[in-house]
This record gives sequence, C-alpha cells and structure tokens, in this order.
Amino acid sequence: MDVVETVVRYVFLGAAACFVLGLHLMNTPGTARRGNLLSGGAMAVAVAAALVLIVSRGGVTATAWIVMILGVVVGSVAGAHAARAVKMTAMPQLVSLFNAVGGGAAALLAVAHLLQETDLAHLGARITVPGGLDIVIGTVAFTGSLVAAGKLQGWITGAPVLFPGARVLTIALTLAATGGLVWLVAAPDSLSALLLLVVAAFILGVIMVLPIGGADMPVVISLLNALTGLAVALLGFVLDENLLIIAGALVGASGTILTKLMADAMNRSIVNIMLGGFGTGAGTPTAGADPGAQVRTVAADDVSIQLAYASKVIIVPGYGLAAARAQHEIATLAALLEQQGVEVSYAIHPVAGRMPGHMNVLLAEADVPYSQLKDLEEINPEFSQADVALVVGANDVTNPAARRPGTPVSGMPILDVDQARSVVVIKRSMGHGYAGIDNELYTAPQTGMLFADAKQGVTDLVAAVRALVR
Ligand code: TAP
Repeated sequence: MDVVETVVRYVFLGAAACFVLGLHLMNTPGTARRGNLLSGGAMAVAVAAALVLIVSRGGVTATAWIVMILGVVVGSVAGAHAARAVKMTAMPQLVSLFNAVGGGAAALLAVAHLLQETDLAHLGARITVPGGLDIVIGTVAFTGSLVAAGKLQGWITGAPVLFPGARVLTIALTLAATGGLVWLVAAPDSLSALLLLVVAAFILGVIMVLPIGGADMPVVISLLNALTGLAVALLGFVLDENLLIIAGALVGASGTILTKLMADAMNRSIVNIMLGGFGTGAGTPTAGADPGAQVRTVAADDVSIQLAYASKVIIVPGYGLAAARAQHEIATLAALLEQQGVEVSYAIHPVAGRMPGHMNVLLAEADVPYSQLKDLEEINPEFSQADVALVVGANDVTNPAARRPGTPVSGMPILDVDQARSVVVIKRSMGHGYAGIDNELYTAPQTGMLFADAKQGVTDLVAAVRALVR
C-alpha cells in the first residue's frame, strides 16, 4: 500500500466514524440537523478521497472519466434539487426513490464485479455468496422501493393490490432466487445463474410490495430501507471496502430496528406482511360502516364555543395537517386555548402522516412543546376525559374499523378518538385516507365535520376563538 492509499484509508476510517457520530446526533431533534450535516460532509470527503485514489492509481480510460464525472454531476444536481424542491409531504416518496437507487446501485456494482472478475473460480464463495445475496437484496430493494414510491405518490393505489396466485408466485420467485444463488456459488462463471438471480429478484420486489397497503406500508418502507443498507454492506465484502461495510451496516441495522418498532406499533408480523399481506384483511373495505348513516356538519363559530369552554382538548394531527402545512396555525390555536385555561395535548400515532416521526417533525417546526405531545399508549386512556377531540387531517389512525377483522387496517392500534365526549374533524370532504376505506367515526353521533382545508379551517377557528374571548 503506497502513501496515498494509506492516507485515503485513514480518511475513509474518519468518514466512517463521522457516520456513526452523525447517526448518534440524529437521536434528538435538537442535534439532528448537525448530525445530518456531519454525515453528509463525511460522505462528500469520502467521495473526494476515492477520486484521489483513482487518480493516483492511474490507468483510467477517457470513457471511464466521462462516465464518472457525468455520474457525479447528474447525481449531485438531481439530489440537491430534489432535496430542496420536494415538498415536506412528498419526502417519503423521495426517501423511497433514494432507497431504490441505493439498492439498485449496490446490485449493479455486484453484477459488474462478477462479470469483470477473471479469477472467480479461484475466489469462489468468498465473492459469489455476498455478491449473489447483494444482487438479490439490492434488486428487491430497487423494484420494491419504486413500487412503494408509486403508492406514496398515488400513481399506484395505496390500498393492497391483490391478484390470484400472488402468494404462490412470491414463494416460486423466492425459490428461483435461492436456486440461482446456489447455482452461482456452484458455477461462478455462469451467466445464466446471474440472469436468473436478477430476473427473479426484479419481479419479486414488485410482487412483494404490490399486495401491501394501508397499515402495512410504513413497515414495508422501513424494511426496504434496511434491505438497501444490507445490500451496500454486502457490496463492501465483494469489493473488500470497509467504508461500504460500515455505512451499509449502519443503515441496515437502524432500518431493521425501525422496522421492528413499526411492526410492533402496528401489531403486525414482518414475515406475514412480506408473504403477501397474510392477515392484513382483504375483506370488504367498508364492512361494518352504516351506508345510511348521517353526517353532521359544524361551523367554526360553533366549534370555537366548544373549544373555548372545554377543560380538556386533545388535538389529533394527521397527514392532512402536513399536506396543508397548518402546523403553525394549530400551534396558535393550542396556545390561545391554553391562555383560556384549557388543557391541550396532541395525540401522536406512530404512523400518522407518511413517514416515521412525521407529526413530531411537523409540530417541532411550529415550536410545540414536547411535553404536549403524547404517544398512543399514553393518550388513549385520556380520550374518555376529553371534552373535545379535534381531528385535523387524520383519518386511518382514528378509524374504528381497525378493531374489526377483514379491513386493510384491521389489528392496527388506533387513537380512541370516539371515546371523547365530542369529536370535531377538520378535512375537506368525506374522502378516504391512505388505506382507501370509509371511516365510521365521521357518522358517529358525537362527531361534527368541519369541511375545510386544514389551514383554512384552523385559521377560522383561531379567529372565532379570539372573537369569543376578546
Ligand atoms: P390518512 O389516513 O392518509 O388521511 C388523511 C386525510 O387528510 C384524508 O382523509 C384527507 O381527506 C385529509 N386531507 C388531505 N389533505 C388535506 C388538507 N389540505 N386539509 C385537510 N385535510 C386534508 O392520514 P393519517 O390518519 O395520518 O394516517 C396515515 C396513513 O398513512 C395510515 O394508513 C398509514 O398506514 C399510512 N402510511 C403511513 C406511513 C408512515 S411511516 N407514517 C407511511 C406510508 C403510509 P380529504 O381529502 O377529505 O381532505
């Protein structure tokens, strides 16, 4: 190893340490921004160091330079533009796309390495095992994340897409991928084995994610994130590159922990979800809802009286609050009510919105005190003592259908909003939530619907409460 390579290896080690530190800083919202900067900065330094190493080794063709420079320029411009231009509500789709390119890149590099390696027969299982696994996992993460992004963007329905024979096909493709892996290990030079691996994994990613929807999507998104990390770590073994192993292992491990936490929070089994939505309930989506039930609409003036004279109000934020960017308005309303002596808390469901911690991030932006945020277990016993539960743009996380079998949200723990003395729901219409099913909370006798965009509805409430208490 020459001097340049030694220095570069130390730089890689320093970058890896910064990734760990950055991840640690992301533990709390107060330091998360610094953690992100540190990890991103370390990645930029690592990329620069890798370029130095390539230059010092020499022998790179002009075409290779053009491809590398184009890759860096196009990737940097697209990444920076996407991160700046994409709205907060579209962030989960963007994260899914990043997962897709991460998994796809890891798989492609393994394919390229296996095709180029001239000494495969000698290197054998040391390369073909991690390489084959990387190709399967990375390709599944690639196509699965693309389907997940399509579902989050609304291009593919968020509800489970079920078709006859899906489970048999999933099992057959899993067996084909396993067979391809064994074949590749036995015959490292076999192009057919490589092709079988790629094709089986490509279809498997699509088939695995299509039948998943509703309450299971958050689990599958974090699982795909973990798979991307795992694919990158495996690539590190193929290329003998410690930095990739460390970075991939960090993403894989944190993604796995998040997947487990999500699955527990949603009362789901990861294996069942991945085997094609077993137990997620594919029955009649509206079963149990009364089609003739009446909806009671309410006006901001009436709701303001309820709120101003309540002793306890629980605010239930959901995706609609994020879509309308109404976090500042809701914080103003809460502060106004507190000034009147009303006890206000926010009920935070683990999968409200479209990404883990979505509501926490949103409310932190509006400087809502953490002490007012209560998670599902803490807040549910309090609903029966609440005078008003104010639901702002939340739907599935309040849907009592989750308590019955046979719906896409069955088994998902919900916020017990229907236990409150009075419920006010702010949303624009009777439109469905992500799971695509009716919500019988909206026709319950104690519920009043305030049909409005969340930002406008809450602004009207603030004005009405101000006028009342002036
Ligand atoms: P959803 O069930 O998606 O319901 C959101 C509601 O907000 C909709 O019914 C919509 O009704 C309303 N809305 C949309 N834009 C609005 C606006 N500008 N103003 C007012 N209301 C608006 O949301 P949720 O209760 O937060 O549940 C989250 C769902 O997403 C769950 O099913 C969860 O499994 C899924 N999911 C979550 C994640 C993560 S990790 N959090 C990831 C993927 C999927 P209108 O159109 O009538 O206004």
